[in-house]
Amino acid sequence: MVTLFVNVCVREESRTLGLAKALLERLPGEVIELKLEEENLLPLNGERLARRDSLLAARQFGHGMFRYARQFAAADTVVVAAPYWDLSFPALLKTYMENVSVVGVSFDYSPEGIPFGLCRARHLYYVTTAGGPFQPDFGFRYLEALCRQYYGIPNCHLIAAEGLDILGNDPAAILEKARKALPGEEKSGQ
Ligand SMILES: Cc1cc2nc3c(=O)[nH]c(=O)nc-3n(C[C@H](O)[C@H](O)[C@H](O)COP(=O)(O)O)c2cc1C
Repeated sequence: MVTLFVNVCVREESRTLGLAKALLERLPGEVIELKLEEENLLPLNGERLARRDSLLAARQFGHGMFRYARQFAAADTVVVAAPYWDLSFPALLKTYMENVSVVGVSFDYSPEGIPFGLCRARHLYYVTTAGGPFQPDFGFRYLEALCRQYYGIPNCHLIAAEGLDILGNDPAAILEKARKALPGEEKSGQ
């Protein structure tokens, strides 16, 4: 069992990362961490899109350009940890998803033009924390739609702690409550 941990947290004292680590401790098997900040992720531009198109036309799915898509498609479980930024998630995550969304690797199309998934994972966990009230519409829901309609990952679980930066709230207590509600079983001896 391999869990791919897509870490989109950038702050040293990231609360999202703390919550995600607590979840990872409860999931079985090996964890492979991908810290997006340390990856040289680039959005598609004209040159990269043309290169990608010609590689895909030649069915060169083993090319380095598709390494994120191959890794994502092969994972047994995916955990994404992303803070709530500007009603969504950091642009780093969008760039990553652009790199993951590769026809022939993470999804494909039927002869009728309907997308179907090529990903192994059955579960994706999306962990986030928000300063104010959390709205899932522009971040989590987007990722959930990609998983269901393209990648073939049927179960997307939202783990969110909100209101952490609201004056008068107790962020430690909010985070503790979220930790207590995490799925999975606590590993023995921890
Ligand atoms: C660039 C940026 C944008 C943010 N945008 C929002 C927002 O739209 N709504 C909100 O409630 N909080 C927003 N926040 C606050 C964060 O969601 C909150 O502090 C979160 O817990 C940060 O996660 P972290 O501790 O893992 O870095 C924003 C913070 C940053 C740095």
